[in-house]
Amino acid sequence: MKASLDYILLIVGLMALVDYALAQQANLHTAPPLADDEAHFNSSLEAILVPRVVGSRGHQQVRNYLVNSLKSLGFQTEVDEFKERVPILGEVTFANVIGYINPQAQNYLALACHYDSKYFAEDPGFVGATDSAVPCAMLLNTAKTLNSYLAQQFRNRNDLGLMLIFFDGEEAFRDWSRTDSVYGSRHLARKYSQMPNPFATAQGRSSRHIDRIEVLVLLDLIGARNPKFASFFENTSGLHTSLVQIEQTLRASGQLEGNNKMFLNRPAGGFTDDDHRPFLEENVPVLHLIATPFPTQWHTPNDNAANLHWPSIRNFNRIFRNFVYQYMTRHSVPVDLRFRHK
Ligand SMILES: *[C@@H]1O[C@H](CO)[C@@H](O)[C@H](O)[C@H]1NC(C)=O
Ligand SMILES: *[C@@H]1O[C@H](CO)[C@@H](O)[C@H](O)[C@H]1NC(C)=O
Ligand SMILES: [Zn+2]
Repeated sequence: MKASLDYILLIVGLMALVDYALAQQANLHTAPPLADDEAHFNSSLEAILVPRVVGSRGHQQVRNYLVNSLKSLGFQTEVDEFKERVPILGEVTFANVIGYINPQAQNYLALACHYDSKYFAEDPGFVGATDSAVPCAMLLNTAKTLNSYLAQQFRNRNDLGLMLIFFDGEEAFRDWSRTDSVYGSRHLARKYSQMPNPFATAQGRSSRHIDRIEVLVLLDLIGARNPKFASFFENTSGLHTSLVQIEQTLRASGQLEGNNKMFLNRPAGGFTDDDHRPFLEENVPVLHLIATPFPTQWHTPNDNAANLHWPSIRNFNRIFRNFVYQYMTRHSVPVDLRFRHK
């Protein structure tokens, strides 16, 4: 019984992948409801692009900004606050910020980034533009540009909700290790795996809130010139392929700038440790959108506004917005990309 149900869910997942692979390219565009709003992107980035080491004033300001932005975009917000002792700084207060549209839905599409900036004793002005102010501004901008759709057709759907997750404490305080890194994501994955799923009684549904996440899409290290994104996980390669196709279609219709092809139709090979690790360990499918190789300014004082590459940022925003829109408009039944259940 269990096995055959898994099998059915797998088939549904595969059908969804095929559907993505055979994507009709019809409604891809940058016209309403998918038009750019770069003024909004810029003001979001400006608000986030400050030193925001956990426990600092900038950190508190950005945290408040994220909550207020989510509320004004119609999201129900959750702040997952906790205290923990960390190397160098001692006890600090972390806070993951989460926004939900359709919190009552059976499943969710989760989009994530981290909003803390790395602590450097010798560089208190470090702003982490690509790491990850730009990815966080991209998530807010995706919600802003899709807002009329999210507020109308998408609103009150029961099959799918949208989660935006702004993780805190991704950065190591001393040296990256399993324990000195991804503080916020470890806390949230634990919390969501212990929270019950109200749909658990329905046949075949998991008993854990965390399993309502169909896929966690994690953005990191974006905003530098000519980024390249390959596919890290087989179970989300269909979604990665749809990004490749959306980029192709937008380029063919003259809606992208320059000629860098950022989404590569190939496996990344290897694993890059990041906020997705605790979710992956709880069996959540992950689409990891991290530029590899990393931007040359990574973890240096040059990871700032002056070294951002605007055509790449605008292109990413356009492709990503179409991807999210496609996921939502094509979704009707639960998508299960898990190879096996625990
Ligand atoms: C956003 O900021 C970039 C970089 O400063 C600038 O080139 C662009 O014109 C700005 N866009 C808007 C709409 O203000
Ligand atoms: C997805 O596939 C990767 C291997 O590509 C595996 O490590 C991971 O556990 C899989 N996750 C799920 C949820 O199936
Ligand atoms: Zn970093």
